[in-house]
Amino acid sequence: MSTSLEAADSDTMDMSLLFQPLEVGDVTIPNRIGMSAMSRNRADPKRMPSHLMKKYYLQRALGGAGLIISEATLISPHGAQFDRCPGIWNSEQVAAWKKITNVVHLAGSKMYCQLWHLGRLSHPDPNGMVYSPSAIQASGEKYCFHYLLGELDFVVPSAIEDPFVLVKQFKDAAVNAKAAGFDGVEIHGAAGFLVHQFLDTSANIRTDEWGGSPEKRTRFALEVLKACKEVFGINVSLKISPAGGFNDSGMPLQETLDTYRHLVAEVDKLGLSYISLYRHNAHKDPIVDGKRRGTPHDLVASYGPYIKQSKIFVVGGVTPMEAAELIRTEQVAGVFFGMPWLSHPDLAKRIKHGKNLDNLVAMPFLYGDTQAGVDPRVGYTDYPSVTY
Ligand SMILES: Cc1cc2nc3c(=O)[nH]c(=O)nc-3n(C[C@H](O)[C@H](O)[C@H](O)COP(=O)(O)O)c2cc1C
Repeated sequence: MSTSLEAADSDTMDMSLLFQPLEVGDVTIPNRIGMSAMSRNRADPKRMPSHLMKKYYLQRALGGAGLIISEATLISPHGAQFDRCPGIWNSEQVAAWKKITNVVHLAGSKMYCQLWHLGRLSHPDPNGMVYSPSAIQASGEKYCFHYLLGELDFVVPSAIEDPFVLVKQFKDAAVNAKAAGFDGVEIHGAAGFLVHQFLDTSANIRTDEWGGSPEKRTRFALEVLKACKEVFGINVSLKISPAGGFNDSGMPLQETLDTYRHLVAEVDKLGLSYISLYRHNAHKDPIVDGKRRGTPHDLVASYGPYIKQSKIFVVGGVTPMEAAELIRTEQVAGVFFGMPWLSHPDLAKRIKHGKNLDNLVAMPFLYGDTQAGVDPRVGYTDYPSVTY
């Protein structure tokens, strides 16, 4: 991304709107510029957050991130796409995360833990068990496990017998996140993972109380959020990607609108800190039978009016100028950036001081890849900041 902020017409766009503090749940974040969850595959082999991860998050807190969302963090030892994504199911992981939240807080930022279960997208290692609402294998994405040895494709999952077993795992992880010093938790309800699978008729064909109507398909997300609220109160949030496409997700438009309007309205009644709307990304949406797998539509316009209490954040291809405009017009309270934070540790400071966003993303190093002997620091903690 190369954006000349100096070239922006500062007469028509008030960028200072991005730097107003905001109450999110019961904490105040210093600005409206969040850092979105990004898996970077730099934990240790026992899925322990590493010293290097601490450096990475500290760099971005010092760079002015108002609210940092941790990379997706496993709530239990089920398999993931990567061998080095972190977990939060045991006390060693809690202690390691605490070192990270401590330095982030010292640098003036707040941090949420993104709680993650992959459902049918899990790798069958380490215990051979892959669960989903229904026994439907995710299609496509044959490269999905290319960072791992062994099985390379998604497998047919077992239908979850009692979803409350999984709800409890989310709650236990929230208890651990609290002990680790996080300010809240974001439930990963996007990108085709477990919570999303319950919402989506292409992964959920259950005929019990957890499938069928929008009311029943949204039940799992609501139960998870309620359970986490018992731990964190209002400091619980949800990320959703109704437009789908990624990881074999997505429904026809009317079914999508019916499902997600019901979801956000019910979620909003629970009292969440924020709801994050992850916009459609054409690059992550495969063409299947000549058309897109996903259902692109305007998320802020479609769902914003159904969210009355929770703050609305938007993520996905947002530019600083667009962010300021969305906030000025009160369509959203704040924004998350993903890739721009990845390659600019000082993103918020650059925006504030009108500096260029000119660090190119080192694509081959997005996920480290220890199997290939890649130095985990490269393309992770070595992006330069500018001098102020
Ligand atoms: C390397 C990488 C890893 C990501 N990992 C996650 C993740 O763990 N959890 C998640 O919710 N989104 C993940 N995302 C999506 C981002 O959070 C964000 O929603 C997306 O990149 C769109 O924002 P952007 O256009 O500003 O990059 C990831 C994106 C990238 C580029």
